[in-house]
Amino acid sequence: MKRIPVLIAVSFLLVGSWTQCQQRAAEKPYRSAASLPQTEAEKQVLTVLDNMVKSHETYLSVPGEDGKALRLLAEAKGAKNVVEIGTSTGYSGLWICLALQRTGGHLTTYEIDHQRATMAREHFKKAGIDHLVTIIEGDAHQQLSKQRGPIDVAFIDADKGGYVDYLNKLLPLMQPGGLILAHNIEMVPDYVKVVTSSADLETIFYMEGAGLSVTLKKR
Ligand SMILES: C[S@@+](CC[C@H](N)C(=O)[O-])C[C@H]1O[C@@H](n2cnc3c(N)ncnc32)[C@H](O)[C@@H]1O
Repeated sequence: MKRIPVLIAVSFLLVGSWTQCQQRAAEKPYRSAASLPQTEAEKQVLTVLDNMVKSHETYLSVPGEDGKALRLLAEAKGAKNVVEIGTSTGYSGLWICLALQRTGGHLTTYEIDHQRATMAREHFKKAGIDHLVTIIEGDAHQQLSKQRGPIDVAFIDADKGGYVDYLNKLLPLMQPGGLILAHNIEMVPDYVKVVTSSADLETIFYMEGAGLSVTLKKR
């Protein structure tokens, strides 16, 4: 008979500690920490990135979490040939170049707006990585016809209505095992549908920043 109050007390204890665990998890979500430079060259790029944010020299740029993801994926892939659609003032390109400093790769980045392309050029120079980047000015939908493969990593971050067209133009140039990344995926449902419904592709979503899809072109 005494067992019933004991069982009730144990249940209360279990529910209480489970609730505490949930509260602690909500208070301390796992977020990416700031990047710490290992070399002077890395420090120079990170300093420019930091200054760009502080002096509002970004335009619709990726948040730092996504920048870090771009760097991490390009570096892990050992990327030699990276293509970006939508340079803006160079913020995401600089993150990608942190990887290219290590992999010996090159970034080709497309921008339709001359003023933003000019600012990007200045930022790449200040960061000491201008030799790693080629900026192609003009409409990427047309300019991409001159792009050479094989591409290891492609990053799409321009006109949202153009994502599927960019994907169709980039896919034949992608290395098997290559990665196609796309930003603001919550704004491009048609693109998401395409990359999640092909047997030739495998896609995951990284949502710590502004929503980045990571699509593998299967071998
Ligand atoms: C979201 S911003 C890119 C942000 C950049 N990736 C970053 O994180 O710093 C989009 C850029 O794409 C450019 N853009 C839009 N349509 C384009 C097109 N058809 N061809 C090339 N660039 C385009 C815009 O001018 C704008 O600078």
